[in-house]
Amino acid sequence: MCGITAYAGKENALPFLLQGLEKLEYRGYDSAGVTLVSSHHLETYKAKGRLTNLEKILSEKEHPEHTGIGHTRWATHGVPSNMNSHPHTNESETISIVHNGIIENYASIKECLLEQGYKFQSQTDSEVIVHMLDYYYQGDMMYALKKCVQYLQGSFALCVVCTDYPDCVFVAKKESPMIVGKTDTAAFCASDIPAVLDYTKDICALEDNQMAILKPGSIELYDFFGDPVSMKWTHISYDACAAQKGGYDTFMQKEMHEQPYVIKETLRAHIENNLAMPELSGLDVSKINQIYFVACGTAYHASLYAQYLLRTWIDLPIYCISASEFRYGNYRIDENTLCIFVSQSGETADTLAALKLSKENKAQTLAVTNVLGSSLARLSDFVLYTCAGPEIAVASTKAYTTQLVLLACLCLKLAALCNGDVENKYNMINQLKQMPEVVEEMLQQEDKMAEFAKLLTNQKDAYFIGRQLDYLSVLEGALKLKEVSYVHADAYMAGELKHGPIALIEKDTVVIALATQPSVAQKTISNILETVARGAKVILITSKNQNAEGFDYVIRIPDVDPLFSCIPATVLLQELAYYVAKEKGCDVDKPRNLAKSVTVE
Ligand code: F6R
Repeated sequence: MCGITAYAGKENALPFLLQGLEKLEYRGYDSAGVTLVSSHHLETYKAKGRLTNLEKILSEKEHPEHTGIGHTRWATHGVPSNMNSHPHTNESETISIVHNGIIENYASIKECLLEQGYKFQSQTDSEVIVHMLDYYYQGDMMYALKKCVQYLQGSFALCVVCTDYPDCVFVAKKESPMIVGKTDTAAFCASDIPAVLDYTKDICALEDNQMAILKPGSIELYDFFGDPVSMKWTHISYDACAAQKGGYDTFMQKEMHEQPYVIKETLRAHIENNLAMPELSGLDVSKINQIYFVACGTAYHASLYAQYLLRTWIDLPIYCISASEFRYGNYRIDENTLCIFVSQSGETADTLAALKLSKENKAQTLAVTNVLGSSLARLSDFVLYTCAGPEIAVASTKAYTTQLVLLACLCLKLAALCNGDVENKYNMINQLKQMPEVVEEMLQQEDKMAEFAKLLTNQKDAYFIGRQLDYLSVLEGALKLKEVSYVHADAYMAGELKHGPIALIEKDTVVIALATQPSVAQKTISNILETVARGAKVILITSKNQNAEGFDYVIRIPDVDPLFSCIPATVLLQELAYYVAKEKGCDVDKPRNLAKSVTVE
């Protein structure tokens, strides 16, 4: 998830490129770069870290060029560094590109290009694009771009400049966002609306499989066959600050709505080639006789899920320990242990300390994180990345659901490596591939959850119950509610209710119950009825076929394998927490006392 800007106009290009990138820094801030074009040469500047580092370099001289492209990066392939920063340029420095997305088949393209004598500077998937353009370019950039997009698999929003076209920017889009806009003297493009709003309020969002040529004051739009397409313009009535939130009220809401996209990106990066997962090559599976998952908070809940899946599928002891406990517990970690650390930020102090301890005890270590180049990623033997993009709201939403899908992929892979027993693995993979649509369906239930949330606005406490995997989901649901709405929330195994917590249930107590696991759903329903008998109001999340007669607040998840029902159920619980917090007027994105990354013990 990166930020792109491009300008072709009569004024200097740089001010727009930089202002636009500044507005897009929420999309990534590992590194930034620009290429400016004149008829004879390209000038490319890059800097690791925040945009200000790039601005400092650029301020050393004048930049009169009228055409250029810019990029702010959230790394997915290759650590944050100057080399891996965009733009990427061909060897003769005549073509330069910026790219957002993931090129799935970059390895095979790279192999072909290496055979043709091309030299690579970076570890990124994006660099293949500029060399491929160079390969096809014979004086007609549109032709080269058309050829290129035919071969690229995956997602891309792409801007290209070339010394032979000093007034033009070429654009192509598939599955990664890209918008264009223009004035009488300039044309712009960007990966998101806020970048252009100081210049124009009329924008056209490119559709998949479209290409465009930006020229001073005009834009031409084509499909991937090169046939002209008419443009659909939208007038944006909100300001740049609101636009950074994509028109949503808060980052949390925006990030919840990004889930279908980021889940798709995460699956795209890991599920291909029958879960080949080359990142794990070198893992010595023959040595492993126990597996530990270690994490904090929401990431700990995702780890509990992975533990559940692995226990279902393989015959080894699998543990899941909170990182803050792991350091002080007497766990028998040795060279036959695989320790898997799950962390959105990759910087959580407790998780890092647990990693160091495991390494001291000679365990093999694997990080599952969202931040490329984070401490956890650097220190672990192996790394898998979720592709959630930057998560700005303190309460984790999209990072969590991408952890769930990535951990499901990882567990399927480990099961295969350890001769585990996964019933109908291919069906599992297909079900995972459907998660983006399933989650989208849940986001469409937002209004219903907003209505249910009103039950909790004036409550001090809420009780979440579920059995088996549903219990793990309610742990996360209760945490989310506490964090953003300050309603005290406890999660219980439904069967444990009668061993104590039921004493707390009285008239109008709100109970949030999950019954999505067919093997135990009816038992959970019996537990819920025990709370109803004591006057509780119950919000029930259940599967399509479950009989829910007699319950007033019922919401159903789509038909999915019970092992994956926690993914749609989680989205509903996020919405519930969100709307309770909104109703109460809480600062949803920055809940009191909480930090996004907990770098102290
Ligand atoms: C809750 C939340 C926290 C984090 C926890 C670990 O919404 O975000 O519970 O999950 O602080 O953080 P990471 O995943 O960065 O290690």
